[in-house]
Amino acid sequence: MGGRECPYLMRTYRAPEIGFVRGRGAYLYDRAGRRYLDFIAGLGVNILGHCPPAVVRAIGRQARRLLHASNLYRIDAQVRLARLLCEASFADRAFFCNSGAEAIDTILKAARLYFHQRGERQRRGIICFEGAFHGRTFGATSATHRRTAREGFGPLLPGIRFAKFNDLASVESLIGPRTCLVLIEPVLGEGGVVPAQREFLRGLRQVCDRHGALLAFDEIQCGLSRIGSPFAYQHYGVAPDFLALAKGLAGGLPMGAVLAREPAASAFEPGTHGSTFGGNPMSCAAALAVCRRVLDRRFARQVRELGNYLLQRLREHLRALPLVREIRGIGLMIGIELSEDGQPCVERCRRLGLLINCTAGRVLRLLPPLIVTRRQIESAVKILHTALAECSTQR
Ligand SMILES: Cc1ncc(COP(=O)(O)O)c(C=O)c1O
Repeated sequence: MGGRECPYLMRTYRAPEIGFVRGRGAYLYDRAGRRYLDFIAGLGVNILGHCPPAVVRAIGRQARRLLHASNLYRIDAQVRLARLLCEASFADRAFFCNSGAEAIDTILKAARLYFHQRGERQRRGIICFEGAFHGRTFGATSATHRRTAREGFGPLLPGIRFAKFNDLASVESLIGPRTCLVLIEPVLGEGGVVPAQREFLRGLRQVCDRHGALLAFDEIQCGLSRIGSPFAYQHYGVAPDFLALAKGLAGGLPMGAVLAREPAASAFEPGTHGSTFGGNPMSCAAALAVCRRVLDRRFARQVRELGNYLLQRLREHLRALPLVREIRGIGLMIGIELSEDGQPCVERCRRLGLLINCTAGRVLRLLPPLIVTRRQIESAVKILHTALAECSTQR
């Protein structure tokens, strides 16, 4: 298993067996012209599919006018995007960066700065969750629970402790007057596609309020209609103080964002934080085209319906297979938990023309583009059935 390693690249990723030269909608094409149904969508990035015409047009238009000028100057598309995101959400202000990890770091810094400015200088503690993944910068790595992401990089950011996911008592045992922030993914992504329970998130908001701590949602994977509401917090009916976005935000261009409400939204002042490329005209033009589509409630409702359909078809076809332990998910964020390593099944699916990935060792993860059709869902379910049946018989 695995392809040939490139001697010029650092060894951060498993050597890939294939690469793609072209994409359209829910399909990717390799050099030989072979078509693959893409149910991982660039790890949740290509939410409108590959090369969505409105996004490509917006990028082309912007590229012909202006690529970059810096945040020393007003960037019209950035202002429009911030307004769109704030008007569609709980937020009062937005900050733009280039990735999910940067968005998480921005939140960690903003929370600490906020209490520093209020004279509460001992409030440095941060609570994160077991199973969480928040990215690869030092801050985001420190907030990430997975051992393989942390080992060898210490000392990491001090003051971060991990509570059990979906367990309010565990949070209550850690939170106190020194806690400045609680950071959580409403649906664990890399941790194996585990949705938070509604009562848990509601309770979390109350516990934070009781202790004067800020609450942040990492919606980098589960936001932007992925789980069938424009923002994941809306599905849960719980508004955070900070919200992190990235992945699908600019439809395939690198971009991250932090949304925040006052008073925490105003923690930063000129000179305290920033990014050379953050909120650049290209990414913002692309993100405007994406957000106009995915923040629409009708669009989100369609995603929810498609997600229910996919879950139902998977349960009908796969539940009886000996390898399958549980099929769970919300909207178009689905996990199929197996009783053993899922990588052989991922590879079998690929040979049959379906792209998925495996996370948390045993969970096949499906993150199809949100524009997927029922017909494509049927094809994916059929391939998954064949692949899992083959894997079952080879045990
Ligand atoms: C929930 C979550 N947070 C943060 C990140 C990090 O995002 P990025 O890779 O853009 O830094 C990821 C990436 O997979 C993620 O799934």
